[in-house]
Amino acid sequence: MNSSISIAQAQTPSQCTVVIFGASGDLARRKLIPALYNLRACGQDVAPPKFAVLGFARRPMAVEEFRATARTAAAKFSRLELEENCWQEFATGLDYLPGLDQPEGFRRLKARIEETEAAQGLPANRIYYLSVPPEAVPECVERLDSAGLIAKPGAANFTRVVVEKPIGTDLASARKVQAILQRYFDESQIFRIDHYLGKETVQDLMVLRFANTIFERMWGARNVDHVQITVAESEGVGSRAMYYDPAGALRDMVQNHMLQLLALIAMEAPVALDAAAIRESKLNVLRALRPIPPSQARNLAVRARYGAGTLDGEKLRGYLQEQSIPATSQTETFVALKTYIDNWRWSGVPFYLRTGKRMPARASIIYVQFKDVPKILFNREQSLPPNALTIRIQPDEGFSFEVLAKRPGLDIALRPVRMNLRYDSEFSGPSPDAYERLLLDVMSGDHTLFVSAQFVEKSWEFVESVLDQWRDNRAVPMHEYAAGTYGPAAAEQLIRADGRTWMNP
Ligand code: BG6
Repeated sequence: MNSSISIAQAQTPSQCTVVIFGASGDLARRKLIPALYNLRACGQDVAPPKFAVLGFARRPMAVEEFRATARTAAAKFSRLELEENCWQEFATGLDYLPGLDQPEGFRRLKARIEETEAAQGLPANRIYYLSVPPEAVPECVERLDSAGLIAKPGAANFTRVVVEKPIGTDLASARKVQAILQRYFDESQIFRIDHYLGKETVQDLMVLRFANTIFERMWGARNVDHVQITVAESEGVGSRAMYYDPAGALRDMVQNHMLQLLALIAMEAPVALDAAAIRESKLNVLRALRPIPPSQARNLAVRARYGAGTLDGEKLRGYLQEQSIPATSQTETFVALKTYIDNWRWSGVPFYLRTGKRMPARASIIYVQFKDVPKILFNREQSLPPNALTIRIQPDEGFSFEVLAKRPGLDIALRPVRMNLRYDSEFSGPSPDAYERLLLDVMSGDHTLFVSAQFVEKSWEFVESVLDQWRDNRAVPMHEYAAGTYGPAAAEQLIRADGRTWMNP
């Protein structure tokens, strides 16, 4: 049973130039450069497309310095060992240009792209990866247009733009960003990235649900008691105060990654495996998502920030003591909430979502608890633990199904046992990084794993209804939890009030 069934990819990746806007930033260093290196590295199972990478940022920097920084980043963060030959080959196509903050910088950019294409024999296919703060997106796009860098859809060569989350900082600003993008680009040219969609286990959610018969028959209010989604991180805010403090956990994680997971776990089967059909099914989940009622915000949308604590023997400071965090900060580093999807399938089934920084481990799970068996036979005298499916998104990817079995012996004793699939033992080799998958999809023009404009807006609507209620600090308090724990007592209370408990990863 080790033969695999390939599902045809929609398109093949095209030769192109990838321009990283904000190339001296954290994302480029930790994720984009290592992912692009891996795509070019030897021994990949997909044919590597030929592409050049041009870093574009504000800071003046010699190309050699950029290459050296990129090399260090690839050596540190790439999942594949850095091989000198591969690196040299990759580095030949790696270039850097300052001037992101100046209009004339964009004219120089045009000239540099054209030089690169001529020198490397690349067609004028261009990918602009906007790894810049959301407020910088409109200006970038306008300057790209003024510099004549945006080809019309349907032109002989493509221009594609990739926008990172967060798209906007609230519904109104998200709409502005969308309007600007849509003024200058056709929807077919826009790729809104949410890197959770590129994770192997997240891609596997649809396979699990729609390539197997057993789960789908149980998937819904008739059989499911409740669903929990936990995305726990052990890292604190680190050096990202400038971005994180104005954002907070709700904007940083719930508006995008967590609602994507929710949509994938709850959506109806799409009518086809194409981007439009899948996006439509996911959007329908958000259309049915019940906003947190204002009168219950205090109990159903718990916010908290980490205080001092200990993790793996290390003493950690609290959020307010972190570098560059204002003493008056009202930013949450933890959210727990309960909501419902008011559609036919999920009517009455609670969905509990929880995410936070400085929790005991970096681990994300989706936990689906099934209903109790009837109070007869084995379940008559005592309460039996329910069946449950736990999908481990990361780090030890896989899923397990908990069922009851008879413990071998002369007495009748039942014990929960686990049917467990671990990716690392079932499949060989490490999974590609999410950014590799997604960058390859941009090169191929495949939107399946990207976020639609409507999804962005609907998710902001949901999140904004919570933010509105949080504005009143007296009505919805900011709780505290010790770093290295799974959140405040109020989050426990949120689920315990329903007679349930959080499943810690
Ligand atoms: C990012 C958030 O989108 O996702 C970070 O901005 C968070 O705050 C990160 O740490 C988590 O991603 P992953 O892949 O490590 O789970």
